[in-house]
Amino acid sequence: MHYFRYRGNVLYCDSVRVKDIAEKAGTPVYIYSHRTLIEHYRKIKNAFASLRPLICFSMKSNSSLALCRALVKAGSGLDIVSGGELFKALKIGADPGKIVYASVGKTPDEISRAIKAGILFFNVESIPELCAIEKMCGRLKKRAKISLRVNPEVDAHTHHYITTGTQENKFGIDIDTVTKIFRQKDCYRHLDIVCLHVHIGSQITESGPFVKAVRKVSSLIRLLRSEGHKIDYLNIGGGMGIVYRKERPQTAADFAKAVAPLIKKLGVKLILEPGRFISGNSGILVAKVLYVKKSKSKNFIITDAAMNDLARPSLYGAYHEIVPVHRSSSSRARMKYDVVGPICESGDFLAKGRRLAAVKEGELLAVMGAGAYGFAMSSNYNARPRSAEVMAIGRNFYVTRKRETYADLVRGERIPGVLK
Ligand code: LLP
Repeated sequence: MHYFRYRGNVLYCDSVRVKDIAEKAGTPVYIYSHRTLIEHYRKIKNAFASLRPLICFSMKSNSSLALCRALVKAGSGLDIVSGGELFKALKIGADPGKIVYASVGKTPDEISRAIKAGILFFNVESIPELCAIEKMCGRLKKRAKISLRVNPEVDAHTHHYITTGTQENKFGIDIDTVTKIFRQKDCYRHLDIVCLHVHIGSQITESGPFVKAVRKVSSLIRLLRSEGHKIDYLNIGGGMGIVYRKERPQTAADFAKAVAPLIKKLGVKLILEPGRFISGNSGILVAKVLYVKKSKSKNFIITDAAMNDLARPSLYGAYHEIVPVHRSSSSRARMKYDVVGPICESGDFLAKGRRLAAVKEGELLAVMGAGAYGFAMSSNYNARPRSAEVMAIGRNFYVTRKRETYADLVRGERIPGVLK
């Protein structure tokens, strides 16, 4: 579900013509629908309403200030993974009391900043990290709230790059070690270890693996409580899949129906940290067709967007639907195309072997479902300035990030005197 829809043959974002945005902001450009974004936040919030959950939007999926601000304004908390995301979160006025911080490699500086900010939870991924937070709290004379990320050893049945809850992954702490930490929790004098966290992967389309993981942590919580430990919160992570092609992912309501009863029984406060579910279908990437090239065996559409703008197809073989921004009124033959960018790598593509109504130079194409891990994973590879971002809110649209300039590309670089 999203609000990128055709009126006649013209693609709109909310009530704004995509073409008008592309004319003003240039291409390639990421365009976000405020309405789609907020509706997805509300969908998940409402699905779990009976548990009054804290939804912490996963900033790694999209840390653009305007997008995060829109969610924070609607009541969302934030899930962060770095000092940079903490900086951005504080910059948009997020309540630190609604920020949870995960990452297997938090540096002393990042830990210190998060303690000083007074975040809700550190999602801790190892004993050495726990010791580092304890030490820093001692130094700063502060306390910190800790959530232990449990590795439940559940396979999420998703792309192997984005599955995180099995033994081979670097993430989380095994159940025996979690138990051991609780038994020795008095050693951590500055820490309140009162939450368990579990996140098993991303783009998970069925409830089964979530239920399995929640069952496993539920038994762990019962065991820990029977030993007198206090567990007030459970964070069940993110990972809910969305529609890119023909997936039929569980809806927020299905998901809640499967998982909420288990959590209700535990009597814990629930935290969720969805990223893609909220931001994924709220954004598209609009590119201009530079050339249409025929080789002996293939037709190529060469666009001004490339793998540096949207890495998911190259990196994961991910499918993103591609549609024209203006549908031709004359009937055009359907052709099979590779949609590629200007980058000097054969792996630079947005789609392969895609059937599209014939496309002409200068036309605009919209790459759908690009709101999550789109701009967030973009780079300057091939010295390409990163694209602009625009948000449509009702009938208006706003450039929320200027396109980078060539000057931006060299900002911070220095040539040593000896080379001059
Ligand atoms: N919480 C934790 C601890 C995570 O590691 C992640 C994502 C999330 C929440 C949010 O997951 P989501 O709800 O968005 O699935 N770049 C990949 C996805 C990497 C996901 C990393 N962790 C992609 O483009 O598919």
